[in-house]
Amino acid sequence: MEGWHGWDDYAAYYDWENAQTVGRRDLAFWSVFAQGATAGPAGGGGPILELGCGTGRVALPVARAGATVVGIDRSAPMLDRARKRVKRARLQSQVQLVRGDIRYLPFPDKSFPLVMAPYGILQSLLVERDLTKTLAAVSRVLTKKGTFGMELVADLPAWDEYSKRVSMRGKRGPNGKPITLVESVTQDRVRQITRFEQEFIEGRGKSAVRKKFGLAFRTLTVPQMVRRLEKAGLKVSALLGDYQGGVWGLRAEVWIILARRG
Ligand SMILES: C[S@@+](CC[C@H](N)C(=O)[O-])C[C@H]1O[C@@H](n2cnc3c(N)ncnc32)[C@H](O)[C@@H]1O
Repeated sequence: MEGWHGWDDYAAYYDWENAQTVGRRDLAFWSVFAQGATAGPAGGGGPILELGCGTGRVALPVARAGATVVGIDRSAPMLDRARKRVKRARLQSQVQLVRGDIRYLPFPDKSFPLVMAPYGILQSLLVERDLTKTLAAVSRVLTKKGTFGMELVADLPAWDEYSKRVSMRGKRGPNGKPITLVESVTQDRVRQITRFEQEFIEGRGKSAVRKKFGLAFRTLTVPQMVRRLEKAGLKVSALLGDYQGGVWGLRAEVWIILARRG
């Protein structure tokens, strides 16, 4: 299984589920961070690249705050949703959506003063080789003194293993029908991979529609990720442990790493 698998099927449920989990709690952070990093002499007001922009959950608020955002994602159904949102918000002049793989960024060298990787997108890279390729690509597309900001979803390795548990229920899912999420979780401690098998059931009885898919994430520790960033030529400038700029520590619930290109 590859880290980019599962997202096409997940797309229809992504915003519904995330409204109940991460919600909007990281959005102000990325909006303020984007404004800061693209202002000033190093930023020069240039465009921001968001890795794995998905349905535009982060790209839209960042654009609303005044930035120009290029979002890249491999999943066409996720991007379709983002495209509709951009159109509804009339942000077409500020948000450009590109279908592509973050391991092979299709952009010229030194084209972005800020690259951001919110909400665990780098955890979708399940093997070392893919992470190395992606960090090299990020370093290449950053301008001199450009900034890279990334978040790792911290709680994935601590997730209990379970099988076919009803982990979420709603009276009205994304299509207006009652919805149930039945989920299994397994942990591969050697490879540092957490695997989710999800089944969304919409409606009830015989007419219920079922959609099954899997998602997998590899979670490196913060020190492990710092070493990878430095190897890719990025100098770590801050480790944050919350969305208000608090310092990261071993017990932090939020893992944000900021780095600079030399
Ligand atoms: C956790 S979602 C993040 C979406 C968005 N940034 C957010 O915060 O809501 C991860 C996204 O990364 C995309 N993705 C996973 N692996 C990818 C890859 N190798 N290249 C491009 N996109 C990828 C998926 O399609 C999915 O839309």
